[in-house]
Amino acid sequence: MLDSLDQAISLTAPAKINLALHVTGQRDDGYHLLDSLVVFAGFGDKITVKRANADSFHLSGPYGDGLPADSSNLVLKARDRLRAEFPDEAFPVAINLDKHLPIASGIGGGSSDAASTLKALVSLWCIRIDPARLNNIGLSLGADVPMCLHGRPVVARGIGEELEKVATVPRLPMVLVNDGNAISTPQVFNALKKRNNTGLPAIPELKNIADVCAYLEQTKNHLFAATAELLPEIVETIDALNSTSPLLARMSGSGATCFAIYDNDEAASAAASHLRKTYPSWFVIETHSAEEGH
Ligand code: C5P
Repeated sequence: MLDSLDQAISLTAPAKINLALHVTGQRDDGYHLLDSLVVFAGFGDKITVKRANADSFHLSGPYGDGLPADSSNLVLKARDRLRAEFPDEAFPVAINLDKHLPIASGIGGGSSDAASTLKALVSLWCIRIDPARLNNIGLSLGADVPMCLHGRPVVARGIGEELEKVATVPRLPMVLVNDGNAISTPQVFNALKKRNNTGLPAIPELKNIADVCAYLEQTKNHLFAATAELLPEIVETIDALNSTSPLLARMSGSGATCFAIYDNDEAASAAASHLRKTYPSWFVIETHSAEEGH
């Protein structure tokens, strides 16, 4: 009989989408204070962990070549931090990262990979850990890791670690687009002209997609101007999305991935087909945000 410890555990590491991102201040250590409404897509990387005789790490997938397979990879940092806290439980593991999200692209690929690695290893190693401690380990890996551990619609404040659950966010048909340009998050934050903006307006009851878009119209991604200064091509990405008549198009995180929201899956699919034909080298994915509770 197969021991349960010998079974592989696979988790999706979904794309993180900042529907709105306000920059409200800066801490003494340089990190920025944010107020961001975040959802997660039905599309992402895949992390698989399995008991092994010795540790190993393998990268696969369309973007697997773009990442280091050494200890600088956030997946291995996540493994090593968790092991350091639970040395007795942490037997050797084979980890595979199937990379489908573009690298350094504002949709939290690395952070989501780290969060899913932590979750998968907590399960494989049968670790009992309270969520606050796991969040702290996550935060030590990156400001976006706690929200990725949450994995459901959330408002993130502080540098990203203060999480407030959002009552409901309806399922949003979406297209994600990236023109292939990677952008450095610290560079974008450094290029900000204004850091003391107001926070997000109070979130009303969001009953349907129109309610979400009406709310988002009152919000911004405050990183957009700084990204556009460093990467003027981002404007073409937004224009391309707007040419498909979405309800709303915007950049996620520090870019360069942008998203658009549509009325229904058919409209998102049609927009994605059009964009794929027009920009064959771009990353174009039709997806949807996961609803609260799913
Ligand atoms: O935490 P993480 O490693 O993902 O952040 C990358 C960089 O982005 C930080 O070193 C910092 O320069 C910048 N950052 C920031 N404020 C945040 C999150 C990230 O200034 N809230």
